[in-house]
Amino acid sequence: MAKYIVEQSGPLRGEVSISGAKNAVLPLMAATLLSDEECIIDAVPHLADVNLMKEILASLGSEIEENGENTISVRTEDILSTELQKDLVSRMRASILVMGPLLARKGRVRIPLPGGCAIGARPIELHLKGFEILGAIITKSEDNDYVEAVAGGQGLIGDQIYLDFPSVGATENIMMAAVLAEGTTYIENAAEEPEIVDLANFLNKMGAKIRGAGTDTIRIEGVPRLHGAKHTVIPDRIEAGTFMLAAAITRGAVNIRNVEPDHLKPIIAKMRECGVRIEAGDEDIMVRGDLGPQIATDIKTLPYPGFPTDIQSPFMAYLTTVNGTSTVIETVFENRFMHVSQLGKMGAQIETAGNRAVIRGGTHLRGCNVIATDLRAGAAMVLAGLVAEGRTEIADIYHIERGYERFIEKFSGLGARITKIDD
Ligand code: UD1
Repeated sequence: MAKYIVEQSGPLRGEVSISGAKNAVLPLMAATLLSDEECIIDAVPHLADVNLMKEILASLGSEIEENGENTISVRTEDILSTELQKDLVSRMRASILVMGPLLARKGRVRIPLPGGCAIGARPIELHLKGFEILGAIITKSEDNDYVEAVAGGQGLIGDQIYLDFPSVGATENIMMAAVLAEGTTYIENAAEEPEIVDLANFLNKMGAKIRGAGTDTIRIEGVPRLHGAKHTVIPDRIEAGTFMLAAAITRGAVNIRNVEPDHLKPIIAKMRECGVRIEAGDEDIMVRGDLGPQIATDIKTLPYPGFPTDIQSPFMAYLTTVNGTSTVIETVFENRFMHVSQLGKMGAQIETAGNRAVIRGGTHLRGCNVIATDLRAGAAMVLAGLVAEGRTEIADIYHIERGYERFIEKFSGLGARITKIDD
């Protein structure tokens, strides 16, 4: 199994360019199933999760071509299967995003129920509830392993759907199911993440009639068919946040290019509270961690525009290095503190009680053998490794490669001492 070796590095300096967003490109790829015409997506990052989504689309009948370094074209003249294979769903939860498009275009979808994952139970009842309100009949297999959604004789019918929680995936799946429905659908208490807006923009380019994406009420007027479209994926705000924190934790100065500063507001606000100087341009952000002392802050993860849960663990790694005591409260996932014990091994002083962690900052971190327990926790380990004395060996890095493009290359370009070894 491959590992990352991270050595204590000096302040990171230079420029880094952010890739297209993982959490935007996956739903965009799923949405291409809604048309029989060619769709072209630009700024597609090279990631394990993107490759898996390509496999899923191919298994359903899509023809996918690489048109250059970061561009793919997808054409699904006909959908050959409405069933997803178990191993594909178990390898990536986002594979469930093909449910909405399959139900919309073929009136039927059958998938293995995704189990829980490292960070929580992650059920899909909100997705199913939405499909049901649009008129689909939902049945689960006797052993509860599979779920099937089948549209009624007239297809899906627009209606009003209130989400008990603004789930990102449920909002995307329901939006994609509703675009070809008869009549108008309203999703209330919808997720407001930038990735939802990106998906709505792409669907509208395909001929959908969606308004209100980015607010808590999305209105989708059904249309009979969608055509092909071309779209560029938005920059990855979580990758950007990770490099902002890399600059801060090493007390370096990094210019982060190809970002949408508006999407980074909660991260910028919290880093400024800690004493990091941040200057936001139109499409870049200069992060100065080298100007004076940095101090503790408190964080509570929330749906957008609140503080993103995906940046909670990298931020916690940073908080172990500032002066004073910080509190982190995780409200989005019930089990997202697995990085705490790994940071503890490195000498961090963090106590948890339920969904609250208290971090005593200013501790001396020491390199040791740690595990990337999930994608973002892996990034947290790398950040801690950059400032820990000696050498940090990180196992299970396949998690990191699911979601960060050219990770080693980008970090090395800023002066980080990080290498990949095959154990
Ligand atoms: C997406 C992101 C993920 C991010 C998360 C929250 C993608 C591919 N992944 O995941 O990186 O951490 O948003 O910002 O975009 N829930 C239910 N029932 C449901 C659906 C969700 O209880 O039917 C719960 C989940 O268990 C979780 C919370 O809602 O506790 C948030 O989940 P959700 O917003 O759906 O996240 P994902 O779309 O899975």
